[in-house]
Amino acid sequence: MSKKQKNNDLLQVAVESAINASQLIMNALDSPRAIDYKGQTDLVTETDHKSENLIKSIIKSFFPEHSFLAEESGKEINTSDYLWVIDPLDGTTNFVHGYPSFAVSIALYYQKIPKIGVVLEMPNTKLYSAINGQGSWCEGEPITCSDTKELINSLMVTGFGYNHDDNWEKNMLLFKQFTNESQGVRRLGSAAVDLCHLAAGKVDAFWEFDLKPWDTAAGFIIAKESGAVVTQLDGSDFSIYDNTILATNPYLHQIIKEKAKLII
Ligand code: IPD
Ligand code: CA
Ligand code: CA
Repeated sequence: MSKKQKNNDLLQVAVESAINASQLIMNALDSPRAIDYKGQTDLVTETDHKSENLIKSIIKSFFPEHSFLAEESGKEINTSDYLWVIDPLDGTTNFVHGYPSFAVSIALYYQKIPKIGVVLEMPNTKLYSAINGQGSWCEGEPITCSDTKELINSLMVTGFGYNHDDNWEKNMLLFKQFTNESQGVRRLGSAAVDLCHLAAGKVDAFWEFDLKPWDTAAGFIIAKESGAVVTQLDGSDFSIYDNTILATNPYLHQIIKEKAKLII
């Protein structure tokens, strides 16, 4: 089997898992929710758990030897060099309130290199996907990030973690500064969706502190394959285990990084 065919098969498994999980999530949207708290404002529902179980069981039915890193069940390391990184419901707070921005996020890494990314945005369903070296797509159509060149003409997006610590304070300062110097900064509540909106050119830049690997794993490759530049906030190389991210179109990266460096 050719490498391209193999990648397409892996992508199909990720897509099938995401579609099944999204149906489960959408069916639960209007039902009463059983909410648990991981922190004072960090919510988790039985839907997060059910979605994760479903995604893992579908992937395991194809690849029983693969490893997993998933938000609710943690690490499950097997013999294989393939690692699936899963956020079964990104934007749980939005889901709980019925605010229309949340997603399933599924990425596949091979020997620490991102190979496949799938984000299924809901409730207005949009399937974003990418394969390393082959591009990224929205609903099967190729996507590229924007070519906005001036910060003042840009639309940006960020997010805030659940811990109201030093980084949270710094992000408030960045939020204020960039709101003043762009056409606006959005805060939607799903980092996976934010990265896809960057990839599709709907926003020109995204940054955030203290995200977890499952928040960024799929969005990272989708953004990169759309032509976006993805680093840490200080401009150094990004991995999903780092705790800052700056993802922008290629024209705005330098200017945003320099401005952010003065605050972080
Ligand atoms: C959260 C979302 C949000 C980001 C938070 C994440 P969750 O993930 O991605 O946009 O600002 O930091 O924790 O908890 O909804 O899976
Ligand atoms: Ca998340
Ligand atoms: Ca989640």
